Amino acid sequence: MAILAGNWKLYKTRKDVESFFDSLADIDPAGHECYVAPSPSLLETACRKSQEKGNKIGILSQNLAYKLEGALTGETSVKQLLELGVKGSLVAHSERRQFFGETNESAAERCKIGLEHGLKILFCIGENLEERKQGRFEKVIEAQLNPLFKVADAFSKETVQKQLVLAYEPVWAIGTGVTATNEEIAASHDFIYKLCSKAGFDLSILYGGSVKPENLGAISSIPRVNGALVGGASLEAKSYRDLLACLTRPLRSPT
Ligand code: 13P
Repeated sequence: MAILAGNWKLYKTRKDVESFFDSLADIDPAGHECYVAPSPSLLETACRKSQEKGNKIGILSQNLAYKLEGALTGETSVKQLLELGVKGSLVAHSERRQFFGETNESAAERCKIGLEHGLKILFCIGENLEERKQGRFEKVIEAQLNPLFKVADAFSKETVQKQLVLAYEPVWAIGTGVTATNEEIAASHDFIYKLCSKAGFDLSILYGGSVKPENLGAISSIPRVNGALVGGASLEAKSYRDLLACLTRPLRSPT
């Protein structure tokens, strides 16, 4: 079974969130895990609508504080997220790394508190264009994962497998319309899977970066791809429904 997670970034109003859930009241996840991650001010509305419609699409935060409370202006704590009914959180999205100074170490700390409190963590990794061109992909991914593995070591394998998910998003494919080729995705996921196995973890790995209904069918059939983290194409209800259909519908054989 796969995971479909929509990252709504800094989009949508309360009214948009309500109509999204109303339009998808009849959606059938067919055993897959479906999520959307709205901005902080929309979480309460999203959680209420999700519950009203039977929790078929769970709510994720886009980030979480590494402490339960304290002098951390602008942050949202696990305690506050749980109170709303949030199921988990993205951590270390490339936009957090790029624009807000998230480091591999601070991201691992956020992950730790989320795991401690039973949240699902979608931990984002991925190289930028320069790093790929310079052939530094493997080094970058290893550096992003090592602090995470250190944190995960303190939890039972069962907890980690159940709560921690990786999302591989090559930065050059985010919001650009450029998707990595299926061969590039296969090779990257294979490398990440092997790193995880070497560290003793068996984690689901999602792909993200210009995913849309037109390409998700093929992407989700690549070995070691366990679903998708989708930005732009997750915003509209129809497109979200089509994305889910790509996971549930068997791939047509090529003609
Ligand atoms: P796009 O699907 O819009 O490229 O965004 C990907 C992303 O950043 C999801 O987290």
